[in-house]
Amino acid sequence: MGAALARTLAKNGLRVAAWNRTHPKAEALADSGVVPLRSIDEAVQGANLVLACTMSPAHTREVLAEVTDWEATTVMYVGSGTPDSAVELEAWLGERGAGYLDGVITSYPDEIGTPEGMIVVAGAPHLWSRYADTVCLLGGRSSHVSDDVRGANILASSFSGAFYVAALAAYVEGAAFAHGHGLSLDAIRAVTLQHVDLLRTRTIEVAEAIASGNHETDQASVATFLDGAETTLNSLSSAGYSAKLIGAARENLQAAFDRGLADRAFSAQFEVLKP
Ligand SMILES: NC(=O)c1ccc[n+]([C@@H]2O[C@H](COP(=O)([O-])OP(=O)(O)OC[C@H]3O[C@@H](n4cnc5c(N)ncnc54)[C@H](OP(=O)(O)O)[C@@H]3O)[C@@H](O)[C@H]2O)c1
Repeated sequence: MGAALARTLAKNGLRVAAWNRTHPKAEALADSGVVPLRSIDEAVQGANLVLACTMSPAHTREVLAEVTDWEATTVMYVGSGTPDSAVELEAWLGERGAGYLDGVITSYPDEIGTPEGMIVVAGAPHLWSRYADTVCLLGGRSSHVSDDVRGANILASSFSGAFYVAALAAYVEGAAFAHGHGLSLDAIRAVTLQHVDLLRTRTIEVAEAIASGNHETDQASVATFLDGAETTLNSLSSAGYSAKLIGAARENLQAAFDRGLADRAFSAQFEVLKP
C-alpha cells in the first residue's frame, strides 16, 4: 500500500521521498520518481506531509521516535488503528510540534490514484484544507469525515470492519454452498450482482431508518427475515457447510423478535444492538 501511495504522488508531479524498514523496498520505487532514503530523520525533515503506512501505529511511533526536527510537518497515519490510537498518535506528535491527520484507506492498492479510490480523513479542518488536494490525488472519493481525530477509525470499524469484512465472509460461505452444488459461475455472477444492487439501496434505507427511529415496513419484517435465516442455516449446516455468518445474523434477528419487534423492518435490530 505504501508503494502505491508513493508512486501515485510522484506520478502526479509531487516531490516524494520514501523510507522503509527494508531499504531495498524503498529503492524499488526509484524508477517511479520516488527518492529512497535510508534515514527517517532526513525523510521527515524535508517534508510537509508525512504519510505513514505500517501495520500498526506502534510501529510508526517507534520509527518516528528518531526524528529530530518536526517543524512545519504534518503526519497522516493511514495504516490500521483504532479510535484511541488516533488520539494517542495525535497527542504524541503534538508534543513534538507536528500536526496530525488520521486516515483510513477504504480501497485496495490498485485503486489508489483512481477516481474510485478513497481515504477517509479525520482531524483538524485547517490541516485537511492544506492537504485535501494531495489526499484526493490518492483517491477521488477521499473526504474529511470529522474534526474529531477518532472519526475515520470509528467509520472504519463500522463499515470496513463490521460491515464489509463480515459481508464478504458471508458471501464466501454462500458461494461455497452454491459452488459445492455445481451451480455455474455465470449463474452465481448474475445472482451476486442482483444482491449487490439490493445492498446498495437497502443499506441506505437501513441507515435512514436508524437515524429517524422509524422502523415501519410493509415490505419484509424481522419475522420474515428470521424465517429466511433459519431455513438458510438449516440448508447449509445440514449439507456440512460452514454457516457461521448466517447463524450470527439469525441470533440478532431472534433477539429483535424476542423483544416484540417481529413486525418491524430489518433496521429495528438496532434497538436491540445499541448498548
Ligand atoms: N493492502 C490493502 O489492501 C490495504 C487497504 C487498506 C489499508 N491497508 C493498511 O495499510 C497498512 C499496510 O498494509 P500492506 O498491505 O501494505 O502491508 P505490507 O505489504 O505487509 O506492508 C507493511 C509495511 O509495514 C512495515 N512494517 C511492519 N512492521 C514494522 C515495524 N515493526 N517497524 C517498521 N515498519 C514495519 C513493513 O516494512 P517491511 O517492508 O520492512 O516489512 C511494510 O512497509 C496496514 O495497516 C493495512 O491495514 C492496506
